[in-house]
Amino acid sequence: MRAFINTFFIVILIGLLGGCLYEKGGPLPSNSSSSTNGGTDTNGGGGSTAALDSLPCGAPTTTNAQNQVCFNTAILPIFLANCATSGCHDSKTAEEGYDLTSYEKIVRKGITAGNAKKSKLYQVIIDTGKERMPPPPNAPMSSDKIQLIASWIDQGAKNITCETTGSTNSAQAVSYSKHLVPIFEYYCTGCHNSTTKSAGINLTQYSTVKALAIEKSLYGSISHQIGYKPMPSSSLKLSECQIGLVKNWIDSGMLNN
Ligand code: HEC
Repeated sequence: MRAFINTFFIVILIGLLGGCLYEKGGPLPSNSSSSTNGGTDTNGGGGSTAALDSLPCGAPTTTNAQNQVCFNTAILPIFLANCATSGCHDSKTAEEGYDLTSYEKIVRKGITAGNAKKSKLYQVIIDTGKERMPPPPNAPMSSDKIQLIASWIDQGAKNITCETTGSTNSAQAVSYSKHLVPIFEYYCTGCHNSTTKSAGINLTQYSTVKALAIEKSLYGSISHQIGYKPMPSSSLKLSECQIGLVKNWIDSGMLNN
């Protein structure tokens, strides 16, 4: 009973805090906004959209022409890489009943469409105390991601599909550190880092990435080929442009450049 009352007060507190931190109808983050936790080998947290800006493929499309937040390109990657890690909110574990691996599953619980502040999923990502998701030692979600999720919920948590941007061809020169690392940090290392290591794979390590490229599972998994586990998930594929960059890197000798 006491635990229940405590939880009740914490929830109220988060609600109040949320009210201070978030202004309804605030500006959407622009693609070039900076992130507070990009670029490091932390557990979870994920990379930043800003880091993807400089790629030939550009940052993921965050809104469509009507200024509606895109679910497939902007929101789903955030939930997958920050929440749906093994042992957390993947389909198998579904901690506290939250399976955050696809649109249908994400909107099923913890989201009050049209009101981020009333949504449990939003409350926990802005929490600064014990309830914070992702929990420590993971880094908190970056402010640009929190803003996107807030706007998406306030707009009704819709399944808006957007086209992916950018194109590349086989002549596009690729750098491991400049091109591949930001892609992995945004889409993959929430699950495949030195601590979480889904499937025993740590994609923050060049040697591991190269080994996977040689045994063909890197390209096989991101291009959703039969015989490989689809990555980042069966419900999310990298853009053709991003897949093209990885392919060029493999074809040009998998350099640590
Ligand atoms: C939500 C967590 C998660 C994300 C995000 C994720 N992975 Fe995985 N990955 C896994 C799990 C879990 C497995 C083991 C799959 C299984 O056995 O069903 C795996 C397996 C793999 C494999 C082995 C595939 C095979 O068929 O042998 C590769 C390679 C891989 N991931 C690469 C990636 C890359 C590259 C990305 C980003 C583009 C990525 N993963 C994003 C969780 C994730």
